[in-house]
Amino acid sequence: MLFSVLCVASVVVLAASEPPAVSTAPFPDPLVFENGEPVETQEDWQTRRAEMRDLMLRNQYGAIPSAPVPVRLAETLAEETQNNGATLFRTVRLAVGAENAFPVRVEMYLPAGGAGPYPAILRVGLGCPVVQEINERGYIFACYENQDFDFDTLGNDKIGPAQAMFPDCDWGSLAAWAWGASRVLDYLLTLPEVDPQRVVITGHSRTGKTALLAGALDERFALVVPNGSGCGGAAAYRRYGPECETLELITRPSRFASWFHKDFRRFADKEPELPFDQHFLRALVAPRPVLSTDALGDLWANPIGTAAACRAAQPVFEFLGVSENNAMHFREGKHDQLPEDYRVLLDFADHHFFGKPLTCTYGEGPGEK
Ligand code: GCU
Repeated sequence: MLFSVLCVASVVVLAASEPPAVSTAPFPDPLVFENGEPVETQEDWQTRRAEMRDLMLRNQYGAIPSAPVPVRLAETLAEETQNNGATLFRTVRLAVGAENAFPVRVEMYLPAGGAGPYPAILRVGLGCPVVQEINERGYIFACYENQDFDFDTLGNDKIGPAQAMFPDCDWGSLAAWAWGASRVLDYLLTLPEVDPQRVVITGHSRTGKTALLAGALDERFALVVPNGSGCGGAAAYRRYGPECETLELITRPSRFASWFHKDFRRFADKEPELPFDQHFLRALVAPRPVLSTDALGDLWANPIGTAAACRAAQPVFEFLGVSENNAMHFREGKHDQLPEDYRVLLDFADHHFFGKPLTCTYGEGPGEK
């Protein structure tokens, strides 16, 4: 079978192996320890959560440094009012690290005219189509250049600044970018304008994968919203829908092997042998709310697999008594993070942060129920 993928300006044709016979493989049970014992108490869950986290990092993303690293404001590059007075725009350069600190660009769009503290949306990667609306709804929008932590290379991996700082760490780009989200959060939490209890992490596609990983690992993120994250993000490896990206495709050395732990490719075409699936990543967010936003026409990102992983994570949310905190939303259309996706995010955040009523259904998705 052949399918074509639009990649930057050129069309790359990937020869995919036949869809592997994994579509009905059972998901590992997040509520059963690796030794077969059941999770019975809240304390058990904390232990199991650590076990799951370790499985995912060790096999898929690589280790993340635990040592604290100083983050400081190096320079304010610009500050101005925008959007007819609705937005206070500020660009800063952070210095991450003590000696040999490296620079990171952060852009912030704050509601102008008030003091806050405001809930904030942190996006992995620069850009947003609805800044004014976000500000008018009383939220800060912040984003950072994830490639300041590690370069995004196609097939020619280069050691990035974060990896150079921790040469003994075996992490790939997704983990480095996710660690970067936490460093930017370190800075955001020093600002009086930011409500520390109400920071959302989001991102799209490769940065959506990063947002889910960052939100799973760092419990200071109150709400986690991966958009169009697909393979290596919210989509299950055990439920490939038509024309989706597979583990074999994403980990090709000429493609995105460097996003992952260097040995992850050993599971290519052996998905049932994975000691986890992406429902684990989602479950790591619990009891905090997680919302995946996707498009039904985004087949490459495997909407069926995302819905399946969401359902497979649900028992954890039920166990913790927060069944509504595991949410998915699918719109019509293609691979993008559109104003509509941000509105779904904002309504969901307004519900969880301020008790406002939900405006749409957050539990329905394609594929088997
Ligand atoms: C490629 C890749 C996807 C990724 C996407 C993106 O299509 O195969 O996994 O999500 O790029 O980040 O735009």
